[in-house]
Amino acid sequence: MAVLEGKRVLLGVSGSISAYKAADLVSQLGKLGAVVHVVLTQNATQFVGVSTFRALSRNAVLTDTFEEPDTQRIAHIDLAQSADLVLVAPATANILAKMAHGIADDMLTTCLLATPSSTPLLVAPAMNTQMWHHPATVDNVATLTARGIQLVPPGSGLLACQDVGEGKLADIADIVAAVTQALTVSQTLEGQHLLITAGATREPLDPVRFLTNRSSGKMGYALASEAVRRGARVTLVSGVSTQPPPNGVHLIPVETAQEMLQVCLNTLPNVTGIIAAAAVADYRPAEAMPHKIKKQEGESDFTLRLTPNTDIIAELGRKKSDNVKSIGFAAETQNLLQNATTKLERKNLDMIVVNDVLQEGAGFEVDTNIVTFAWRDGRTLALPKLSKAEVSKRILDAFESL
Ligand code: PMT
Repeated sequence: MAVLEGKRVLLGVSGSISAYKAADLVSQLGKLGAVVHVVLTQNATQFVGVSTFRALSRNAVLTDTFEEPDTQRIAHIDLAQSADLVLVAPATANILAKMAHGIADDMLTTCLLATPSSTPLLVAPAMNTQMWHHPATVDNVATLTARGIQLVPPGSGLLACQDVGEGKLADIADIVAAVTQALTVSQTLEGQHLLITAGATREPLDPVRFLTNRSSGKMGYALASEAVRRGARVTLVSGVSTQPPPNGVHLIPVETAQEMLQVCLNTLPNVTGIIAAAAVADYRPAEAMPHKIKKQEGESDFTLRLTPNTDIIAELGRKKSDNVKSIGFAAETQNLLQNATTKLERKNLDMIVVNDVLQEGAGFEVDTNIVTFAWRDGRTLALPKLSKAEVSKRILDAFESL
């Protein structure tokens, strides 16, 4: 079987003279079995034609946000969400700036903004040396790499503008190698079945109101994607999330902590590992009213009575067999390690991942996290700020060595 058989690559081509080399890239990726979908910026079409890419990829090539070849689908969302990997090659200084600042003013940048944070995103820049070393480009590249975007760095040589220096599109063979490496992680979790929880639970108060929290599901969904990439079977039990379902996972959506508990208990007998990234409500309204609670005339305050939810991971910790390894998270704001190690013991976890949710770039909603691992034998490991995709790789490396 070809090494990229069936892998869907979304290739964005922006307006650099080296855009013509992207034709070879499509051809090489196709020979390795990849299904390539190409999106060109309007500027790219000044250098290369749509029909070249259509012929090489045997897929429709899009250049305009409002081009919708299939009226049943929204093209930019569909392309972004169905891709196993997104690659921008060549990436101009302009497209890097737009990516860094979340600008979506054409088909390619709209696709890039719609790409789930768990999908590997590679950029291969190409531009004049001055533009590459300009502080704005340097800052934009730093922003993108901090978000987990992988850079295939430009080479040095004689540029189209006759300058000699850095800025030449990386060799096509190097770009193909980077794509292949990103898509063919060794199947170190083959044979494992992981139960991963993610997202926020919602605890209804009445038919229109609920108690919830800020979890987006990004951390748990990134873990699920990485586990699938490593060959695991993944059951993702997810509360409310802003994220699209990762390819290849068995997603079970739930709303309340009680529903999450029930699904997790049903799944437990079949799993070999558990990772609990969900932000589960510790309490729910003691009574969920069947009708909308009305404001009472003259009422000066309103008392809401809460009742504790079962601690899901602790319950799984009690019921699981010893060979099922479990990792929990601790969302803390003070006494991080002390609180985390108490949870590690109390919930019968093998490892806990603690994040200080007050730190910038850590915890809820953002694409990055700053975490410390703590194990039962007292070892700890503090990691720097990393993308949630990279944090997931480190957590699964740790899971594999439990
Ligand atoms: O989803 P994101 O926006 O990407 O944000 C990521 C995150 C901040 C949600 C994630 O990194 C995180 O910290 N998840 C755990 C949040 C949490 O509920 O922490 P906790 O310290 O309250 O709970 C400790 C552990 O017990 C967690 O593994 C939690 O899933 C689990 N728990 C908690 C309560 C409960 N009733 N049942 C549980 O299983």
